[in-house]
Amino acid sequence: MICESNEYLDEILKISDKKDILESTNPFSKYLVYIENNEVIGFCYYYDIYEKLDIAYIFVREDKRNNKIASKLLEYLINNNQDKENITLEVNENNINAIKLYEKFGFKSVAKREGYYNGIDGILMEKKLEELFNSKIE
Ligand SMILES: CC(C)(COP(=O)(O)OP(=O)(O)OC[C@H]1O[C@@H](n2cnc3c(N)ncnc32)[C@H](O)[C@@H]1OP(=O)(O)O)[C@@H](O)C(=O)NCCC(=O)NCCS
Repeated sequence: MICESNEYLDEILKISDKKDILESTNPFSKYLVYIENNEVIGFCYYYDIYEKLDIAYIFVREDKRNNKIASKLLEYLINNNQDKENITLEVNENNINAIKLYEKFGFKSVAKREGYYNGIDGILMEKKLEELFNSKIE
């Protein structure tokens, strides 16, 4: 089950390998949570900023990876935000699995952020939803 809620932060903090970026006080931050048997096994943490979304982190518990859970989270996010212009994210250039995942959903590399991750380059990726956005405001 996928659920959009900021109520699961404690459970998210228990499974996540990155904790410092997660917060609950920013009014623009949101959590999309994947729940199986009453347990949080994956999440997408993102900022919903007016006309755009920015994904800050997507994570699936290690024992549940390669079961299309991240795909389902991204699919949900894209399908439920068709009124936005675009979705952006930043990824470590060495994180090939994540880059493949994003490319599968139509994200394209638009810029390189040199040394962004402790000396390793970051790649800024974007998925445009503009066509739909434009057709809605015409
Ligand atoms: C990246 C991550 C979220 C993927 O989650 P997942 O649920 O295992 O991903 P999915 O099963 O939906 O895989 C979707 C696609 O991603 C790519 N992918 C994911 N894991 C992969 C792997 N181990 N090897 C190769 N490709 C992989 C593939 O393109 C895959 O599509 P395919 O199965 O049709 O080949 C997960 O590995 C994770 O939590 N990693 C640690 C946190 C992280 O790096 N997050 C990204 C930060 S930007």
